[in-house]
Amino acid sequence: MPALIISKGAKVTDTPLYGFSDNSFQAAGGSDGIRKLVDDFYHAMDTLPEAAIIRQMHKPDLTQSRDKLDLFLTGWMGGPSVYHEKYGKINILRSHAHLRIGEAERDAWLLCMEQALTRQNYAPEFSNYLLEQLRIPAERIFLTSRKY
Ligand code: HEM
Repeated sequence: MPALIISKGAKVTDTPLYGFSDNSFQAAGGSDGIRKLVDDFYHAMDTLPEAAIIRQMHKPDLTQSRDKLDLFLTGWMGGPSVYHEKYGKINILRSHAHLRIGEAERDAWLLCMEQALTRQNYAPEFSNYLLEQLRIPAERIFLTSRKY
């Protein structure tokens, strides 16, 4: 349910609080919507020249990466804890600690997500919100992953 928020200047809007409850999961179209987002994300990774550096960090077969990102994002957006049920506990920083992720790798990952977001029928404010929220773990992964 959209929550009322009072933005700067005391203007009342009906923009949903995406970080509240499962609002982001719903705004992303639930499980089907997130699956499509992740499919488009890996399609971008497979095809964008800027993403070649991170595509080669993944296995040739992306089936498991696709499934893991799909289930992880489902819980991360406030949906059911399906990653945990299938794969167990996850610490997203530890999952990337063995990788060498510099600025180029971080930016390539975000570029794939940005490209995938343009292919969804999301409200523009939700796409912007999601990308800004994903910058946070991407930055932390960059800061904590193994360095060159
Ligand atoms: C900063 C740039 C990033 C790069 C270059 C990157 C790259 C990778 C790679 C190569 C793998 C496969 C690791 C392996 O097979 O050993 C992986 C796994 C994964 N990534 Fe990322 N990633 C990035 C950011 C993110 C972000 C921001 C998220 C989520 C918000 C994420 C979610 C995941 C998940 C859920 C897995 C599966 C982890 C597991 O189950 O072990 N990644 N990533």
